[in-house]
Formats: sequence, C-alpha cells, structure tokens
Amino acid sequence: MPSLPLSPQVFAIITSLVEQRAGLHYEPGDRELVADKVSTRALEAGFESLYDYYCFLKYDPGGPAALDSLVDALLVHETYFFRDPLPLEVISDEMALAVRMGRRPRVWCAACSTGEEPLTLAMMLHQRGVLEGVSLLATDYSQRVLERARAGEHNLRAMRALPPGIEGRYLELVDGKPRVRSELVAAVDWRRMNLVDAEAIAALGTFDVILCRNVLIYFQDDTSRRVAESLTRALVPGGSLVVGTSESLLRFGTALNCEERRGAFFYTRPKEGV
Ligand SMILES: C[S@@+](CC[C@H](N)C(=O)[O-])C[C@H]1O[C@@H](n2cnc3c(N)ncnc32)[C@H](O)[C@@H]1O
Repeated sequence: MPSLPLSPQVFAIITSLVEQRAGLHYEPGDRELVADKVSTRALEAGFESLYDYYCFLKYDPGGPAALDSLVDALLVHETYFFRDPLPLEVISDEMALAVRMGRRPRVWCAACSTGEEPLTLAMMLHQRGVLEGVSLLATDYSQRVLERARAGEHNLRAMRALPPGIEGRYLELVDGKPRVRSELVAAVDWRRMNLVDAEAIAALGTFDVILCRNVLIYFQDDTSRRVAESLTRALVPGGSLVVGTSESLLRFGTALNCEERRGAFFYTRPKEGV
C-alpha cells in the first residue's frame, strides 16, 4: 500500500490530537516513525489526504472512535513475564502479610499491556497461597491488548525472563505459544482505562499498590505529573506507587515519599495528609 505524505504541519496537528487524548508525546524528529501507521489508518478509513483525515478525527462525530484506533496503532506494548521482578516480589510478600492479617488488599496494574505484569503478580501471589485474598485490577488504553490478556495468549518472547518452575505450573506452550492457566487469568479484573482520564481513575476507588511501569516515558513531564497526581489520590494512606526503573517522579515533584524496600523503589503516600 503506498503511503500518504505526512507534512510537518499535519504531523504536528495529528500528534497534538493524540497527545490530548492519550498523553503520548512526539517530537518533530518522530515524523518518520509514525508516518506509516498514520497513513495506514487513514487509508483504511477511506481518506486520500492526511489533512482530511485530521479534520475527520477532530470534527466528525466518528472522530473519537477513529482517534482511539489511531492511538491503539501507535502504542508500544512491549512487556514480558517477570520483567523487573524485585518490586513484584516485595509487593507479593507485603500483600501476603496483609491477607494473613485479615485484609483484602487492592492492587492495580495501570498500564498492563497484554497482561504479563499482573499475571506475574498473580503467579507470585499464588506461590504464597494468597491469590484469592488479593483484589487485582489490570487496565490499559488498548482494547486490542486487553483481549489478548483475557484470552491468556502471549508471544514466545514474553517468556524470555521466565524463572525455573513457572512453565508447566502456571503456563504451558500451546501450538508453540505460551498460554497462562485460566484460573490466573480469571483472578484479574481486566478493564479499559485511559490514564489521562482523572475522573475515571477517581471512580476506581483506592488501592494499596499501583504499578504504573514503563508508560510515563511516553508522556511529557506535565502529563506525567497530572497522571501521578491522579494515581496519588487513588492510593490509600500508606499505599505505594511503583514506576519503571528508568522513570522517576522526583524530577517534577511529588507528594509521595520515595522509599527503598529490600532494594526496590516505592513512592509511598504519607499516612496523614497529602
Ligand atoms: C511498554 S508497555 C508497559 C507494560 C507493563 N507495564 C510493563 O512494564 O511491562 C506500555 C503500556 O502503556 C499503555 N498506555 C500508553 N498510554 C496509555 C494511556 N494513556 N492510558 C492507559 N494505558 C496507556 C500502552 O497501551 C502499553 O500497553
């Protein structure tokens, strides 16, 4: 399929719609990177000019749905089982303790992609005998990845950091692809959620732990700050937010305290006042 030309101006106005919608930020140098995906979406939607496609996205009643599908095409869903597992181990131990003390803690994976992160947590909680005692919510912007997560279907690449003892116990290869045990998949409440939608986040209630790893890197500081503020309000006092190893909330200030627990970093809501 031939590509439609993406001028710097149309690149700027289309990516600005994408940023308003989902937070994803692009620099002028990213034009080449997104041109094919934007062009493919526009051609599929029946447009022969990317400016006309922009006008459709912005002004047509069908624009929001088409913008969602463009955002979905642009999102990066890279993830795998047992990725940076240390914070997950610490969380699992702490949640196990809470369950044994008679509580039902709530944990939210706020950008779960195809589900490897919440499913890793589910495996760790199962290993500690407390999976049923923990409420696990996993959300993502992309309906497409959530469908794959709900089906428990993953790519072989998702197994690249799998420790011994997991294959066979929690997942198996079916037709050459990893398939997670259905009890684990069913232990997670999978929902669509846009992280820049503060009202939708507020409606979720509060959590003991929120994982928001490897997604703030796609946002500008302003957006990251707003998302971090929404997530902060969604923590119980004493609850913790975990971001990716290359991400930090300290750069733009946060009401949360940065703490180290057993070698993992947590941003914890003070027990009183935020
Ligand atoms: C690179 S993956 C990270 C997955 C997982 N947290 C991990 O660390 O392996 C980033 C995910 O963030 C999601 N995402 C990006 N922007 C989002 C937004 N505004 N709201 C919700 N999810 C978003 C993408 O769809 C993608 O699945």
